[in-house]
Amino acid sequence: MSQPSPPIVRTVAALRAQVAGWRGAGERVGLVPTMGALHEGHLSLVRLAKARAQRVVVSLFVNPTQFGPNEDFAAYPRDEAHDAALLATVGCDLIYAPTAAEMYPQGFATTVTVAGVSEPLDGAARPGHFAGVATVVAKLLLQCGADVAVFGEKDYQQLQVIRRLVRDLDIPVEIVGGPIARATDGLALSSRNAYLTPAERPVAAELHRTLAAAVEQLHAGRAVSEVEAEAVARLAAAGFARIDYVEVRGAEDLARLGPGPVRPAARVLGAAVLGRTRLIDNLAV
Ligand code: PAF
Repeated sequence: MSQPSPPIVRTVAALRAQVAGWRGAGERVGLVPTMGALHEGHLSLVRLAKARAQRVVVSLFVNPTQFGPNEDFAAYPRDEAHDAALLATVGCDLIYAPTAAEMYPQGFATTVTVAGVSEPLDGAARPGHFAGVATVVAKLLLQCGADVAVFGEKDYQQLQVIRRLVRDLDIPVEIVGGPIARATDGLALSSRNAYLTPAERPVAAELHRTLAAAVEQLHAGRAVSEVEAEAVARLAAAGFARIDYVEVRGAEDLARLGPGPVRPAARVLGAAVLGRTRLIDNLAV
């Protein structure tokens, strides 16, 4: 028999009332912030949260402030009923799906910016993106008051921005990163993969293969700058229309590495556009 969908609340007051009830009963609460269009990657984050807390809230909110003017806010896939049915299968206890007016009421005037870690890579390619992310994530964490919040490592820079945000603002929550869920050919699962045409889909996995080859070359002692340049050339040859970056950086601060052999605790990150789909991926070195 199919499980009943989790209840949905749409206001901060209703969310807080439910979380306070669980807290009063001595239960730990987990939060998995999402923009909906859920896939196995999101479900794996909910399972991770469920392993760390008795109750798990999943937020569904396509956050307008993290999209640039020419990005895919309007086209971003939305299917709340399907998301709710998927969440029922992994033991989500509550869906928080606020309206834009609940999240950004009339007169809203505050933006949270995280300097440093949010500036390179996607911060440079998507101006304003991480301010939108940091602002909505700060709000979601404060609205929910969860003990633990889980974010996917596919958005690796976002995870580092959120870790910095939580430390800097003393938000009392443990941040947990969940491993990237991948298709059998290595493509990182993403809601945006729905934009790929059948012809583009096999090519998309080339991003993962390119990053994996870069990691091997780094282990073989090749210089960072050479490895990065070769990866960019490989993606261009595969048919990616625009390569925003392939860079090897410090795993926590995302600082640039020197041109020579890689230092420990590095991460290789890539972002490239195939057709109308912007793909990102990353691997530990
Ligand atoms: O990773 C996402 O889906 C979003 O950036 C997040 C963290 C839910 C904020 O809108």
